[in-house]
Amino acid sequence: MYQIDIMTLFDETVGDMMNESILGRAQERDFIRIEAHQIRDYTRNKQKQVDDYPYGGGRGAVMQADPLYQCWKHIVDTHGPGHTIYLSPAGKTFVQADAKRLKADYDHLILVCGHYEGIDERFIEGYVDEEISIGDFVLTGGELPAMVIADAVARLVPGVLPDAECFQDESHWNGLLEYPQYSRPEEWQGRRVPPILLSGHHANIAKWRRKQALLRTRLRRPDLYETLDLSSKQDQKLLRELEEERSRDGTASQ
Ligand SMILES: C[S@@+](CC[C@H](N)C(=O)[O-])C[C@H]1O[C@@H](n2cnc3c(N)ncnc32)[C@H](O)[C@@H]1O
Repeated sequence: MYQIDIMTLFDETVGDMMNESILGRAQERDFIRIEAHQIRDYTRNKQKQVDDYPYGGGRGAVMQADPLYQCWKHIVDTHGPGHTIYLSPAGKTFVQADAKRLKADYDHLILVCGHYEGIDERFIEGYVDEEISIGDFVLTGGELPAMVIADAVARLVPGVLPDAECFQDESHWNGLLEYPQYSRPEEWQGRRVPPILLSGHHANIAKWRRKQALLRTRLRRPDLYETLDLSSKQDQKLLRELEEERSRDGTASQ
């Protein structure tokens, strides 16, 4: 079983979110276990205070090292050592390859959610293995980032999704963005589903989807597109077809 422990000031909210839907069912079936721990429960003062003023002055408050350590120690004593990640806007930006790596290299993650101005650096030095950011912006707390990481990693654990194709076919798995998706009805508000998807011809559908994925990636994420290996005969043929379509339709966007 893959274990994820989340150290937070909002254990009930995080617990509720992580117990919903696919991740909830995966926990009932023992493929994963996600536990939220209230850091305040590990304080040694009556007020359950977890933060104090920053040394050196300045605005705001900093989460103190000791409650974090006591909470972390309780988790390690209960579930054994875990790869410890502090969610921080100053960390390395999380991408799908990190989700794959965290799933492949560990079976126990401990995610530390900060608040206020962040957490005491000495806890990071002593107990954090890596710092991860979910993007170049600043949120009020680490809960949403922790849930992002937990969700992205958990869905790669065997049994959580029906089969590996569910995530291997998706955006970012192989450097491509996913092709467009459609469901019933065949026509909605005058917009029709591309006829090829109704043809039942699996090879042609696969070809169309690959072409759409290439096109989307080229248009929306040229940075990803540049890194793709498109040297296979099939891809070269698709690229030629895309070029022909572009000059035939005269569409600057394709
Ligand atoms: C207001 S932020 C602290 C920002 C910090 N003073 C700084 O400038 O780097 C409070 C907490 O939210 C979380 N957080 C905010 N933005 C994040 C991001 N982009 N990725 C991951 N965690 C983030 C972190 O856990 C952080 O300790």
